[in-house]
Amino acid sequence: MILVTGATGTVGGRVARRLLDRGPLRVLARRPERVAFAGPSAEVVPGDYGDRASLDAAMVGVRAAFLVTNDPQRPQEDADLLDAARAAGVRRVVKLSAHAVGQPGADDLITDWHRANEDRLRACGLDWTILRPRAFMTNTLSWASSIRTEGVVRAFDGESPNACVDPDDIAEVACRALTEPGHEGRVYSLTGPEALTVREQTDQLGEMLGRSLRFERLTADQFRAGLRRRYPEPVVEALMASAERGRSGSKAQVDPTVREVTGRPPKNFRAWAAENAERFN
Ligand SMILES: NC(=O)c1ccc[n+]([C@@H]2O[C@H](COP(=O)([O-])OP(=O)(O)OC[C@H]3O[C@@H](n4cnc5c(N)ncnc54)[C@H](OP(=O)(O)O)[C@@H]3O)[C@@H](O)[C@H]2O)c1
Repeated sequence: MILVTGATGTVGGRVARRLLDRGPLRVLARRPERVAFAGPSAEVVPGDYGDRASLDAAMVGVRAAFLVTNDPQRPQEDADLLDAARAAGVRRVVKLSAHAVGQPGADDLITDWHRANEDRLRACGLDWTILRPRAFMTNTLSWASSIRTEGVVRAFDGESPNACVDPDDIAEVACRALTEPGHEGRVYSLTGPEALTVREQTDQLGEMLGRSLRFERLTADQFRAGLRRRYPEPVVEALMASAERGRSGSKAQVDPTVREVTGRPPKNFRAWAAENAERFN
């Protein structure tokens, strides 16, 4: 039995879909009705990271677990997930972390939280694999509305390259790590095949849509105000620090890992955008 968490989210959903016809699968969700897929050997169980009893119940009979947490203000969640996994005899944990953890000087709240979670996982005695993706290509879907209505992409930084990665590639690596031997004790930094700036992504989206799109730079205050509409203040500051870090070129590194693990090259942004064209139209 494989347990997948975060299945109503970007990566966990892709991992669970890939595993649907590959043996017994359990999906933990705090809102099971939001899990939009099913399969003959898949069960969805209710669970919340804040409810330890639900984690204990979800881990029973599980051999390998995929863990996604997304609240850096709740460090206890990862600790409880690992305690529950260990108590239930889970053998392998594959954990979604972040690329910045491997970057000296990256010490914002989100990166430090991921770093501490990685340390906890390495020390917990289970077999582990850590996935450190760069920015998801799907993050650009946040531009879809202004692209549709105004032909504009607004971002804080148009000039810094980022080797963004397709979440499908992250999910494929996760599935390999959950189901194949040989991934224990490995840290996989995951990027796309090239580093692009937001201006370059804007041009590629415009070519794909057949119309010219404009890039508009947000000031720091505008960027922060937008983040404040979605996140609490400590997370806003962490995201601001991450964006500032990108300006030094720190997010341009291209890693060979997706190809090494899956045997095929990672998808580039142009191909990802073409596959998702209707979401920008
Ligand atoms: N976006 C990026 O560019 C990027 C890059 C590198 C690393 N990351 C890391 O990736 C992770 C997020 O992955 P994602 O984007 O795939 O996830 P996501 O779309 O943010 O979704 C989070 C998932 O976790 C579930 N979840 C959150 N709190 C829960 C709780 N208390 N109990 C049960 N389930 C809970 C959510 O369920 P609900 O549907 O109920 O909310 C959802 O399924 C974060 O750790 C982030 O730092 C992101």
